[in-house]
Amino acid sequence: MSDKRHEAFYQEGALFFIFGATGDLARRKLFPAFYSLYREGKLPEKFAVVGLARRPRTNEQFREDLLASIHEFARYRTNQDDEQWARFAAHFEYMSLNTNDTSGYRELEHVAQKLESKFGIAGNRLFYLALAPDLFGSVARNLQEGGLLESAGWHRLVIEKPFGFDLASAEKLNEELCSVFKENEIFRIDHYLGKEMVQNIEVIRFANAFFEPLWNNKYIANVQITLSETVGVEERGGYYDHSGALRDMAQNHMLQMVTMMAMEPPSRLAPEDIRDEKVKVLRSLRAYSPDEVEANVVRGQYTEGEMKGEPKKAYRAEDSVNPASSTETYFAAKVLIDNFRWSGVPFYIRTGKRLPVKTTEVVVEFKTIPDNVYLAQKHTLQPNLLVFRVNPLEGIYIKINAKQPGSAGMIIPVAMDFCQSCQVGLNTPEAYERLLHDAARGESTYFTRWDEVKFAWRYVDKIAEAWKQGRSELQPYAAGSWGPDAARELLERDGFHWWPVNGQEESEVIWAPVRA
Ligand code: BG6
Repeated sequence: MSDKRHEAFYQEGALFFIFGATGDLARRKLFPAFYSLYREGKLPEKFAVVGLARRPRTNEQFREDLLASIHEFARYRTNQDDEQWARFAAHFEYMSLNTNDTSGYRELEHVAQKLESKFGIAGNRLFYLALAPDLFGSVARNLQEGGLLESAGWHRLVIEKPFGFDLASAEKLNEELCSVFKENEIFRIDHYLGKEMVQNIEVIRFANAFFEPLWNNKYIANVQITLSETVGVEERGGYYDHSGALRDMAQNHMLQMVTMMAMEPPSRLAPEDIRDEKVKVLRSLRAYSPDEVEANVVRGQYTEGEMKGEPKKAYRAEDSVNPASSTETYFAAKVLIDNFRWSGVPFYIRTGKRLPVKTTEVVVEFKTIPDNVYLAQKHTLQPNLLVFRVNPLEGIYIKINAKQPGSAGMIIPVAMDFCQSCQVGLNTPEAYERLLHDAARGESTYFTRWDEVKFAWRYVDKIAEAWKQGRSELQPYAAGSWGPDAARELLERDGFHWWPVNGQEESEVIWAPVRA
């Protein structure tokens, strides 16, 4: 954390505008994030939040909603009689706003000035659009026309994904936003970048002498990234059916994780240097021809099945989903990075709904030792693995080969397991806490810059185009299974297999020490 940034934020404070304040994201993530930051002293007293949505609410009702959301979702407990709660809640006000009504924005300017003078805020304003993306452009323009960008301090726009549907629509959206805000004022959220263990990837890579020298195609056989979910599409069928796993998860979260694993060490730990390195990875992704898409990409859709003894319906039978839908709920691909470091090393990525476990993990499989070493001739050695556990377990797991105690030289795989989330008393901050705090401090490292979005779409569009031409058949998989067989075959063709995830690695090793 840059102390200067934190000090400036602390001294000047900021006014937060939450558009979509009665929505799900605000309730589940943003309000609890504000509360945790407040409890941890990361929010100065010079802050205020104005909640904005169309629905009429009084300030009192809004604060009741706030309390309910904190009760349900926050890491810290509170109650109405708590004195700290009363102080916190006093920073929150509500205003009903129709985002298309320009006169409402002038009224908002009055509310903003009043709150700024009440809390001694120096004119810094953060506009968080927890809204449908088709409103981003018009809200940005209306903020400008309503005079909200004329206050004395900084102005920042925070937006949620999806950023476009393809490269063309993303470019159009970006032009709209850039006619009002500068690139360094736009904070595009990819909440995976706010996850503790995703941020830890660069530390593990760059701060450890025994990883960085091996981090290349001489020693790494392949990298596997799994983002599996047990949920179906829940109430989001309408959105999801137009999006699918490729756009919903791969274009953003998965490719971001690829960049974190594959980027070169930045020359300085400055946001732009890190983002420059990530862009280089995205530019090096091999763009597939339609034939290559067919060979290297798997698209699946869940059918009826059973999970933990409960029957689950097929995707096509979900609410607001077209009964003949060909939208993918599963996506797997072999991603190739054409640069010096990674040439020849496949990055296998997979994500899907209604898979057996909820997990996010990255497995680095190392090449086996040369065959002429006598140990390798005598035993079938398993490869070394380095596993980043992002969620729900958080930690690092390493699988190595060692002599079985008491045996005559028998070699067995053993595990070294650093389980961060098992540590008593460690209450890891939520991704949104970190991202909200970063945006308020102007720390942009873990937000996606426009060129990252652009190159990610350029890669993904090639796949979407091939699918549109009817390439790659949609493969059914039963809800509760690990996805289509084709995803298994994708690795088997190269002589690899998906490693078990979510702590199941232990069942493979003979001995694993007690967790740290
Ligand atoms: C969102 C997707 O970006 O990420 C959802 O739109 C998905 O479909 C979610 O469920 C997964 O996030 P997490 O943090 O629960 O792994």
